[in-house]
Amino acid sequence: MSELLINQPLPLARGPALKNRLAKSALSEALGSADNRVTPQLVRLYRRWATSGAGLLMTGNVMIDRRAVGEPGNVVLEDDRDMARLREWAAAGSAGGSALWMQINHPGKQAPRGLNRENVSPSAVPFGPKLAPFFPVPRALTQTEIEEIVRRYGNTAALAKEAGFGGVQLHGAHGYLISQFLSPHHNRREDDWGGTAVKRRRFVIEVYREVRRRVGKDFPVGIKLNSADFQRGGFTEAESLGVIKALAKAGIDLIEISGGTYEEPAMQGLRKASSAAREAYFLEFAEKVRAQVKVPLMVTGGFRSLAGMEAPLRADALDLVGLGRILAIEPDAPARLLRGQETRHRVQPLSTGFKLLDGFGSLEVTWYTRQLHRMGRGREPVPDESALKSFVLDLRSKGVGILKARRLRA
Ligand SMILES: Cc1cc2nc3c(=O)[nH]c(=O)nc-3n(C[C@H](O)[C@H](O)[C@H](O)COP(=O)(O)O)c2cc1C
Repeated sequence: MSELLINQPLPLARGPALKNRLAKSALSEALGSADNRVTPQLVRLYRRWATSGAGLLMTGNVMIDRRAVGEPGNVVLEDDRDMARLREWAAAGSAGGSALWMQINHPGKQAPRGLNRENVSPSAVPFGPKLAPFFPVPRALTQTEIEEIVRRYGNTAALAKEAGFGGVQLHGAHGYLISQFLSPHHNRREDDWGGTAVKRRRFVIEVYREVRRRVGKDFPVGIKLNSADFQRGGFTEAESLGVIKALAKAGIDLIEISGGTYEEPAMQGLRKASSAAREAYFLEFAEKVRAQVKVPLMVTGGFRSLAGMEAPLRADALDLVGLGRILAIEPDAPARLLRGQETRHRVQPLSTGFKLLDGFGSLEVTWYTRQLHRMGRGREPVPDESALKSFVLDLRSKGVGILKARRLRA
């Protein structure tokens, strides 16, 4: 099936060419230990994905600061204490010839109540009424703290490189810290880090520069960025285009387009696809980017069928097809697609049967995380598992996770 465009290699400006056009997008594994270290389960999961066939495997988000994690079980990378395990992780994920990149992140305000001692953000803007009970009002960062965080991104990237990862991706999407800086809703600063689109994007540009300074000129660095955050007064497509142009000029190697935040989870598909060939959520924006910027482009969210992946490649609207949830229920899906076969399973809307519970928005993440954990234990995913069961079990384990994190801090 070599005539399929998904089989074509993708050369990048830095690092080896990707062997094809399918990429596993980041899926937070929550397989770190209670004290946020790499575990054998995490390594085993990547051993499984090493045979997925994907040209690029992006890790789930790895945190740059122990004081700021986004979920219990995140891996934190701020020093070399876990270098041996990190090397095992990097080797496991690269064993099948896929490039393995580490996604690095700071959650800013998007960390549930009780998990961190405090949450920080560009400004002390509370969450809307739906999430306010679960997420505390953050404290505004000081200038010195912002500079320290910029250095931390560079430090984590350098450690990822040392461990043998083939690249890093900044998590600039989905409402986390970089995304908070970019949003006029979350960033109300009046100093050099906010107030205008150019000042709001200063943070991400400084982070990119610092990472580049630390990893050197030959190491691939990408970013996952929102097309928009779909929030009133928030980050718009026009500002996103501005950020993309600035990052392209600064030398970024790959831009992945997504969208949404915890408050407006567009990345999981709230918007209806306009046709079968346009099943992906953010394609229209990708086309606008394509018309103006030459950086390699990955688009993630909603890709389901071979035709849906081939059409935008044929139209030269993107370079790389990002796949998320399917990899959690069918880890070999890319290999099948590359052979010209449709995936065995389909990503379907989940429901507990109770509208109220479904409305929480955490159901998707919870259910798919359970599948990842199963693979971490050496088992197979269960694509038809009950959503209600998953919801209830997750509430219990999150509670225990937060209690453990508190106990470790005490
Ligand atoms: C369980 C789960 C964890 C996720 N973790 C991350 C993450 O750590 N970083 C990230 O950028 N996106 C994360 N995402 C979003 C996915 O990368 C992707 O953008 C989204 O699932 C849409 O793609 P899909 O329709 O192919 O699933 C996560 C999604 C799920 C379901």
